[in-house]
Amino acid sequence: MVPHMPERICQLKEERNAIILAHNYQLGEIQDIADYVGDSLGLSQKAAASDADVIVFCGVDFMAESASILSPDKTVLMPDMSATCPMAAMITAEALRAEKEKYPDAVVVCYVNTSAEVKAESDICCTSSNAINIVNSLEGEQVLFVPDKNLSLYVASNTDKEVIHWNGICPTHHYILRGDILSAKAKHPDAEVIVHPECRPEVIELADCAFSTDGMIQHAKRSSAEEFIIGTEVGILYRLQKENPNKKFYPAHDRAICPNMKLNTLDKVARALESMEHQIRVPEGVRARAKRALDRMLEVGRGD
Ligand code: 13P
Ligand code: SF4
Repeated sequence: MVPHMPERICQLKEERNAIILAHNYQLGEIQDIADYVGDSLGLSQKAAASDADVIVFCGVDFMAESASILSPDKTVLMPDMSATCPMAAMITAEALRAEKEKYPDAVVVCYVNTSAEVKAESDICCTSSNAINIVNSLEGEQVLFVPDKNLSLYVASNTDKEVIHWNGICPTHHYILRGDILSAKAKHPDAEVIVHPECRPEVIELADCAFSTDGMIQHAKRSSAEEFIIGTEVGILYRLQKENPNKKFYPAHDRAICPNMKLNTLDKVARALESMEHQIRVPEGVRARAKRALDRMLEVGRGD
């Protein structure tokens, strides 16, 4: 008898000594078979600590690349190579080098949503969980923060340091407008509003709090509220609802979807484990420099 797909994946995982890491925006079917579901920071921490031989990364390109940078001895597989992050494509190493020349005294903080080459040009990485802590932990007074302008504005409003912004955005979070929050609040007046710091400043302003995706999960558990309006990619509602069956979650916009996050399927995960494709590797010169920036971030740890 042909095994059911999740069983087939379990068999393959054992044969390959593999783990499956999945981001909070992945389809429910992927979250259900993953060994760990989390945000960018949690996923990097897991990748760095795992003793598996193979990591199947269900997320987008920069996440799999970070896993490979941190664990070069492991085989890191992406089930679908088209799962890229458009925000990460909004900055190149060459453009960053030119900007650094304009601000020679600035400390370069790069959001993990960047290529390995951009990380290699940066002093330290951050995620949405620890961006404020990272910037506040730096010795310099001037920070060049790339590439997400919304996150960088959010950080700037929570630090005394001078923050120089880059003009990148996440199309999925930028899609959520102030009017969407206002209409969701009108429909659900008792709901707490939680948004991601990649949202526009005027959206964050209307929210009760801003968190990374794991920060949202933790906050929803500990909050006494029973209803929540969630301003981020809709995939997170699956986990929020699963872990809080007695609470209600409403998306700030039901079309806030990251299409690339949705490219991974059970079929593609099984195929990746069967064929050991598509392998992610970073050239050693770039990898070592990018790892320094990631390691510095991991020393600071979680901030929300
Ligand atoms: P988190 O690190 O909060 O999960 O965010 C990652 C991301 O890509 C958000 O769009
Ligand atoms: Fe990139 Fe936005 Fe998709 Fe996150 S949600 S992976 S930042 S495009």
